[in-house]
Amino acid sequence: MHDGLENVVAAETVLSDVDGLAGRLVIRGLPLSALAGRVSYEHALGLLWDGFFPALPRDLTRSLGAARAKVFELTSNRFGAASGLAPFDALRMLMGALPDRTDLDTALMIAAAPSVLLPAVLRQAEGKSPVAPEADIGHAADILRMMAGVDAPKAMADGLDTYLVTVSDHGLNASTFTARVVASTQAGLDSSVLAALGALKGPLHGGAPGPVLDMLDVIGTPGQAAGWIDATLARGERLMGFGHRIYRVRDPRADALSAALDRLRSTGNVDATRMALAGAVETAALAALQRHKPDRPLLTNVEFYTALLLEALGFPRDTFTAVFAIGRVGGWIAHSREQALTGKLIRPRSIYVGPEAKEAA
Ligand code: ACO
Repeated sequence: MHDGLENVVAAETVLSDVDGLAGRLVIRGLPLSALAGRVSYEHALGLLWDGFFPALPRDLTRSLGAARAKVFELTSNRFGAASGLAPFDALRMLMGALPDRTDLDTALMIAAAPSVLLPAVLRQAEGKSPVAPEADIGHAADILRMMAGVDAPKAMADGLDTYLVTVSDHGLNASTFTARVVASTQAGLDSSVLAALGALKGPLHGGAPGPVLDMLDVIGTPGQAAGWIDATLARGERLMGFGHRIYRVRDPRADALSAALDRLRSTGNVDATRMALAGAVETAALAALQRHKPDRPLLTNVEFYTALLLEALGFPRDTFTAVFAIGRVGGWIAHSREQALTGKLIRPRSIYVGPEAKEAA
């Protein structure tokens, strides 16, 4: 029995490879360092989807833009029904209204949907009218425009683009596996993606970055980092933003996002005090985790720098998991197609450990 299916191989994929010992993430034959900060999210989507849809355009910028417009048109009459829900739950609710097929148009709409719906529900919660998408501009730039109602500085759009590319795919993580299980039943893409959203929501997967900022706020100053961390570990609690099922060295996505923060810092959009605190917390946490679990390397994961980058880009912390979904949805769709095309239903076994059956008296 493998608790948590650790080390169980459940699929063959051409999409991405996570080498936990070397700290390497490869997406369709390219290391993350060749993609993050170098190509747009639309380009990454084209790479991920290549071979899974007939007549896939070479450049998805226009198609994804048109899909954003279509999603807005299809869902805007339902925005009111999502009011009062937490952003992630509003996203899940509104995504349920999309078509549930497996063709390219459906895939584009589902890929575009979180990017349109999150800004809309956020603006609505602030008593502002949702802003319709601009089909002709880049995906990341349009997300920031739909949030703020005005064009974002290029450096901010580039920072978000880097983030979306960085999280676009990552092997057989919990949400991607969930998407593949649903796709293996030959259900539509919306069903797969809705199920994956549920898996992503939990704090052990995509729900950690908000709590990373909560942790920084509670710690307050660099001088208090070591004491707070020791006390937290002594209570048996986990430090959010550290540890990973696969990586035994630093998560390469943490490096990609910390480089994005450095680029953003030069434009004055990053709070230097916050970064100094984060640096002190990371150093203290790594030292404390080494003492706490000397046999299990627990290092900085993607969520630590996600929290800092998304905060610098102006996203409220209760939206971080939804922003993760805006990027990861591209990978979920690719994996869903890859799994469905195998034609094989995923159906593992369990070992029954309950009471023995009693014969009826
Ligand atoms: N802080 C303190 N202790 C930790 C941490 C942590 N962040 N992570 C793992 N440990 C400890 C566990 O308590 C456990 O100790 P035990 O053997 O005494 O019970 C041991 O290390 C192994 O932990 P597991 O949970 O078995 O390891 P797993 O591979 O399942 O954990 C996980 C991976 C869930 C990410 C874990 O490291 C964690 O909870 N981290 C904090 C939450 C977090 O940052 N999540 C985002 C992950 S990145 C992503 O999904 C996009």
